[in-house]
Amino acid sequence: MVKVAVLGYGTVGSGVVEVIESNNEQVSRNAGEEMHVKYILDLRDFPEDPYGDRVVHDVNLILEDPEVSVVCEVMGGTGPAYQFTKQALEAGKSVCTSNKELVAKHGPELLAIARTHNCSYLFEASVGGGIPIIRPINSSLTAEKILSILGIVNGTTNYILTKMENEGAGFEEVLKQAQELGYAERNPEADVEGHDACRKLAILSSLMTGKNVDAGAIYTEGITGITNADFAYAKAAGMTIRLLAAGKLTEDGRVLAMVAPFLLDNTHPLAMVKDVFNAIFVTGNMLGDSMYYGRGAGKLPTASAVVSDVIECARNQGRTIPCFWDGESAKLAEVSETEQRYFVRARVSARAEVEAAFSGRVFEAPDRAEDFGFFTDAMIEKDFNEKYDALGDKVLGRIRLA
Ligand code: HSE
Repeated sequence: MVKVAVLGYGTVGSGVVEVIESNNEQVSRNAGEEMHVKYILDLRDFPEDPYGDRVVHDVNLILEDPEVSVVCEVMGGTGPAYQFTKQALEAGKSVCTSNKELVAKHGPELLAIARTHNCSYLFEASVGGGIPIIRPINSSLTAEKILSILGIVNGTTNYILTKMENEGAGFEEVLKQAQELGYAERNPEADVEGHDACRKLAILSSLMTGKNVDAGAIYTEGITGITNADFAYAKAAGMTIRLLAAGKLTEDGRVLAMVAPFLLDNTHPLAMVKDVFNAIFVTGNMLGDSMYYGRGAGKLPTASAVVSDVIECARNQGRTIPCFWDGESAKLAEVSETEQRYFVRARVSARAEVEAAFSGRVFEAPDRAEDFGFFTDAMIEKDFNEKYDALGDKVLGRIRLA
């Protein structure tokens, strides 16, 4: 019998209990032995909940119970979650988590503790919600040198951008819907400012290189500057706007990592990823491209990924499931030195100045009286920024092209 403890009875935690208990036949068969949730740790009581009798408030009950072999940390944050994860691993209990913030910040240390104590630290649900992506990188793509990863890894922002595009909806209204559907972070700033995608990219690019990519060092822009006017131009140009997380090995062995909104052609496979769905494009030097697609957020998809990790732990008791991510820092390339193309939106009155500043082509969209668009040729980002900044309030926005 595999006895599991769930730390945190919020959206994902209640989903984990539901998946284990309501899919118990499949889960137990795949684990090779019967699986049950023995404890649920939360500050609150849930007297009306069918699993309310399993709720405890003292983590030591779990840490000191030799029957518990797997702990699901779905509390979020890096405070008690970090402490409890360390203690569980030190007690030889495997830990499975959806907590991308903790994985991005302390991944190498927690993996090392797991190795020392012959247990595992698994985090499939930390990137892409229910999409298998961590396990494919760790086990299916192990013959590859991974050259790049390009993905839509935040469901909330993809949901917001899709609704803005299709319904011309306002930002705040759509964000509220995403929160009600359980997609958004407790503090939705983490979603809309790109921090959540940045943490996920830190995890993916660390796994890509085997070295540590610090989330704090990743260039990050969110979607708060994207307007319905930008979508009007995107639509007229046969394009869309998506928040992309990009990690790429440069020729000199550095990692170019960035999160930002990009314009992409409607024929691009990532342009077809809508609503809460996520997709991650992985390019290997032998396989070429492969893409992983599915529900990137939400209670049951995320919980399903956590429980798949619990099953992996049950199948590998007494040993550590390998994951190559050491603490040495990866060398990052500067985004300002890369070459990109840009879409610039500017006031109609500034047309001559914009045309003088950049080489490229003017793009006009129907029904736009006050502004016009301009697609630049490829240029180094810091040169672009100098010219763009010099135009002051004559320019209204800029988006990179994928
Ligand atoms: N807030 C996250 C998202 C949840 O919207 O993608 C899943 O990590």
